[in-house]
Amino acid sequence: MKMVDLIIKKRDRQELTTEEIREFVAVYTRGKVPDYQAAAFAMAITLNGMSARETTDLTLAMAESGDVLDLSSAVSLAVDKHSTGGVGDKTTLVTEPVVAACGLPVGKMSGRGLGFSGGTLDKMESIPGFRTDLTTQEFLKQLRTVGLVLTGQTGDLAPADGKLYALRDVTGTVPSLPLIASSIMSKKISAGAQRIVLDVKTGVGAFMQTLEEARELAEIMVAIGRLAGRKTVALLSDMNQPLGYAVGNALEVKEAIETLHGDGPRDFREHALEVASHLLVLGESAHNLKEARKMAEAALADGRAWEKFRQLVTAQGGDVTYVDNPQKLPQAPEVETVDAPKAGYLKEVNARIVGETSVAMGAGRQVKGDVIDHAVGIVVHHKVGDWVEAGEPLFTLHARNAKSLAEAKERVLAAHVFSKKKVAPLPLFYGVVR
Ligand code: URA
Repeated sequence: MKMVDLIIKKRDRQELTTEEIREFVAVYTRGKVPDYQAAAFAMAITLNGMSARETTDLTLAMAESGDVLDLSSAVSLAVDKHSTGGVGDKTTLVTEPVVAACGLPVGKMSGRGLGFSGGTLDKMESIPGFRTDLTTQEFLKQLRTVGLVLTGQTGDLAPADGKLYALRDVTGTVPSLPLIASSIMSKKISAGAQRIVLDVKTGVGAFMQTLEEARELAEIMVAIGRLAGRKTVALLSDMNQPLGYAVGNALEVKEAIETLHGDGPRDFREHALEVASHLLVLGESAHNLKEARKMAEAALADGRAWEKFRQLVTAQGGDVTYVDNPQKLPQAPEVETVDAPKAGYLKEVNARIVGETSVAMGAGRQVKGDVIDHAVGIVVHHKVGDWVEAGEPLFTLHARNAKSLAEAKERVLAAHVFSKKKVAPLPLFYGVVR
């Protein structure tokens, strides 16, 4: 295979054969494709797309680039969820302990921050010692003993996606339906869960900005799941404003901890419980969503979900005193609350601007290998539809230095749009694709 020929073929909108896709993934996984060619290839796919057949081929080749786990030696049935990426999306940190606390094993392979969206692994690494590089044996053992695993791509599991994901993050090649679908589904297939709930985001803070694009992405991932013998359901959810209030790694871990203690923002709690309910039904722990919802609420209310989160942190080497005392988590030196410049109903809290600002402050990567600043980020204080008085706290910035704080202040102020007329709150969900 000559890599340049594949790039040219995609550039010229031709369809790649199954063999070509398989060979690209095999050679790329072995480290034999330079980053500049892989980036050009990813850009050609982003611009010209892929057919459903090519997308499925890419997914299966990436899933098979490492081990494909058979979880049946550890548990009889395991579930998993995955989000297509959003701002303030810390759902996994609450949903998965809730589901595992209900007795349904959860084995998850997560991702890092991607473009303006945050990543579960980066968030969890705010906790000193927390390991995200479990081996296959460790994954299986923890699934059996704790019933909850949250790891990243290692050399063993979907390594091709791990490499491509890091490259896409910094080359403008994230918002591509075939690349997102294959990235997510290759991780899900290789991590072995038999039942999968996908949280497909739509809106300005999502990679799929329109509901039509999000539905198309959901449909292709559900179809790939079916083809791979995994029962898959996709929820279509809103990402026009940040989910919850906190955006930034340690800040989001703190908000997830509050939610696991029964507090936390209403929208985030509701979102996490809804995703958990779908997992419980798909995993046959509940007969219907109503029953599942009751189970999930009970696991949150009686502290079982919190205890499961602590077990997860401990099992993966994290220092549990940091989650027991979240004030020990990384703290930014510059913290400032910015007040509303005027009164009005909030028409927009632009998730894209908030996400991009958080990355610029250091919470995400601008180039491959950038070190994440776990302490920095933004806490908004209001949701779309809220009435805000002039002079009321609008958002709080947690910055590394005064320059970063001043820049962020302008941008996050611009992310808040006021209206004199009453504004309806945004919905959390737009539908389900089965
Ligand atoms: N999440 C992933 O794992 N991959 C993507 O491409 C987007 C979101």
